[in-house]
Amino acid sequence: MPSPLEDELGDILEKARDGKNWSPKDLAAATGISLHAIQKMERYEQVPADAEIGVLAKALDLDAAALRAIAHEAWSPAPPQDDPALDLICLNVYMGLYPVKCYLIRCPETGESAVVDTGASPDAIIQKAKEQKLKPAKILLTHAHPDHAGGLDKLDRAFACPAFIHENELRPRGSRDLRFVEDGDVLEVGNMKVEVVFTPGHTAGGVSYRIHDTIFSGDCIFAGSMGRANSSWPGLYRSITQRLFTYPDATRLHPGHGPATTVGEEKRHNPFFRGKV
Ligand SMILES: [Fe+2]
Repeated sequence: MPSPLEDELGDILEKARDGKNWSPKDLAAATGISLHAIQKMERYEQVPADAEIGVLAKALDLDAAALRAIAHEAWSPAPPQDDPALDLICLNVYMGLYPVKCYLIRCPETGESAVVDTGASPDAIIQKAKEQKLKPAKILLTHAHPDHAGGLDKLDRAFACPAFIHENELRPRGSRDLRFVEDGDVLEVGNMKVEVVFTPGHTAGGVSYRIHDTIFSGDCIFAGSMGRANSSWPGLYRSITQRLFTYPDATRLHPGHGPATTVGEEKRHNPFFRGKV
């Protein structure tokens, strides 16, 4: 059973509005829909009628059909097939009540392993690594937010391995061996080559990590939506359209929240991008 989408219609409206620097009032003025109704939609208290979704989509440069499918819970991405180039364990963990995903990856040839993001749940990672008889040799951080980099101190003590992050990020606490990566760097985990893909916008130094046909994309893109543009909305949009979407359609995307998807699924079904890429 795939996890539910990270973003509902209300989140998508808010993020699309953010891209235009519009307040809810601006959106009301652009669409003729009442401010009260828009606020209720953004609080998940009201699903707009199909005609209203069309008006909202047009005003916000979203794809109406894709937005309707998400509003009616009629779409979720087909779960991607396993990538034979890596062994992947996805941990569904929580920071408080907020679900987060982090990953243990293993080279099928050598057994060497690494952690991708901490999920603020070092104990869960340590436990899983123990069960699988793994001692991760690297911690790959997509960005420094606490739900992705929290608990680094415990992981550092358990695994005594370097942690990697882009230099533009805030420095997460807890690693005794924090190293910086930049776009195009290639790290090794056993025989697996891990390419660093600079995907800022959610944060100033957000990166994705690509192994073969699999990308760990942090909070850059979610199935059916995009991350919150804390650093730059156009920058985030470019990171998705000009970096992630340049990989083949079958490329798997493993985000920090919500289900795994593929480049092709997002090009066809994501209301921000359908019809534009
Ligand atoms: Fe984040």
